Amino acid sequence: MKLKLFLFVYVLISSNLLYSQSTIKSLVESKKGMVVSTHPLASEIGRSILQKGGNAIDAAIAVNFALAVCHPSAGNIGGGGFMVFRNAKGKVFALDFREKAPLASSKDMYLDASGNVIPEKSFVGIFSVGVPGTVAGMDEMHRKFGSLPWKVLIQPAVDLARNGHLLTFREANGLNANKSDFIKENKDHSYLINPNNIDWRKDDLLIQEDLANTLERILTHKSKGFYQGKTAELIINEMRRHHGIITQKDLSSYQAVWRKPIVQSYKNLQIIGMPPPSSGGIALAQLMGMVEKYPLSTWGAASDSTVQLMIEAERRVFADRAKWLGDPDFVQVPIKSLVDSAYIQNRISSMDFVKATPSSAISAGQFAGYESPETTHYSIVDAAGNAVSITTTLNNSYGSKVFVGGAGFLLNDEMDDFSAKAGAPNLYGLVGSKANEIQPNKRMLSSMTPTIITENGQLKMVVGTPGGSTIITSVFQVVLNALEFGMNMQQAVEYPRFHQQWKPEHTRIEPNRLSLTQMERLKKKGYEFTNSASIGLVEAILVLPSGHLQGGADSRGDDTALGLD
Ligand code: DON
Repeated sequence: MKLKLFLFVYVLISSNLLYSQSTIKSLVESKKGMVVSTHPLASEIGRSILQKGGNAIDAAIAVNFALAVCHPSAGNIGGGGFMVFRNAKGKVFALDFREKAPLASSKDMYLDASGNVIPEKSFVGIFSVGVPGTVAGMDEMHRKFGSLPWKVLIQPAVDLARNGHLLTFREANGLNANKSDFIKENKDHSYLINPNNIDWRKDDLLIQEDLANTLERILTHKSKGFYQGKTAELIINEMRRHHGIITQKDLSSYQAVWRKPIVQSYKNLQIIGMPPPSSGGIALAQLMGMVEKYPLSTWGAASDSTVQLMIEAERRVFADRAKWLGDPDFVQVPIKSLVDSAYIQNRISSMDFVKATPSSAISAGQFAGYESPETTHYSIVDAAGNAVSITTTLNNSYGSKVFVGGAGFLLNDEMDDFSAKAGAPNLYGLVGSKANEIQPNKRMLSSMTPTIITENGQLKMVVGTPGGSTIITSVFQVVLNALEFGMNMQQAVEYPRFHQQWKPEHTRIEPNRLSLTQMERLKKKGYEFTNSASIGLVEAILVLPSGHLQGGADSRGDDTALGLD
């Protein structure tokens, strides 16, 4: 049942078509700047901001608000996210605008009287909603690094919502697939439902008046236009209507937080990642560390040894994630120990190329002194060399499916990223422990992995993706595809992926990743595989030795790379 639900949700998450060679997008290159996002309109708006002289942060803010309009399954103002930023001078920053547990939340809020997890309560409906962080994050990014006026960055999204935009095939399908949930969770108002009560089709015009008004309040008052005044009132009204628990106090006290990025060396590269409450930076640092000493480029992307090594590394990393990672404002996360290279080498040294290590034989590492205590990504580089990597999310596709009545936007279902009960898998099959249990005001653990890579101090790559737990492993694979296996950025993004997360035991694979004979060989060594719908929607930029930028926009979605002419 759980597996069925998981697969069903996964298919809905991106409304993607299965990966197919025939859909490969052509390579985009530019000398001056690049925007890669999951929607052509959002990429176009980002590029127009760069053309106006805006920097990468300006473009990112404009892209974010545009995605809130044209990619409602994941683009958002009702969710949260993370930014990794490297300025042209080489200074690195990480901004956490992750949602928080409401003040009235509690550890067992998703359990019944017998202590069992109540199905769906943490990921559908008003109880699944975390206090949104996106607007505070955008405001903070702009305050610190923006160069163009805020209004210039928000106006394109207001126009897109007010004048409408033409639905892509995937978006139309996504909206149709979620129609019954939208009706069920929003009895007093209807949003994103075709007014003629028929299914949406490609190129239908979607107008979002209430959302345009909300965006206009944000345009005028920045984050006060969201966390206070009319928008906040509408959020609280929605909570009251359905007995939700987010209060004005939750909204007023929300703040985005600057954190210290995780910076890890890999050969002559520096991997700059998001620290907790995302697991992405630590997990990617561990994965890269585990494979560093092996001759990957000699083996090649398709070889058994490469696949085995990557699967075994992933298995070990997710075991640590489940035990150690949580919101650093609430739990002590042993970051230094987890990314220590001797520790990482020791973890992978137990792998055996002759046979798989079963997940049951792996547990998290131990450290003295420690008690156990639909997402979207955009990558942007501007002409000056500022680079920004942002992943934001509502969690599941279209989040909680709850719209804020009168305000026209969807609320997240991020509470499911907490561990509702130690050892009980969440929507992505991830298990957690005390480190990620629910506490008022705490941020739920994330897998989002916005990443920037430098080589000998020069910008080399900007990368990230949606995909729940598969985010970490997708970023890992795309980085290796480009930097070890010599693929160009588009090929690296398109190359079929696989995913292993410790529990469950099996590794999910996209079509065409392993040949049938190879799979049989690996099965004999003890590896288990299940077929997977498409994994991730990667948006990446590679900087070539010439300084030219190469975009990689995933054919698994409507993703679009646009260079600055
Ligand atoms: O923060 C996380 O790890 C999840 N809420 C991300 C969800 C996600 O990527 C769904 N998108 N496809």
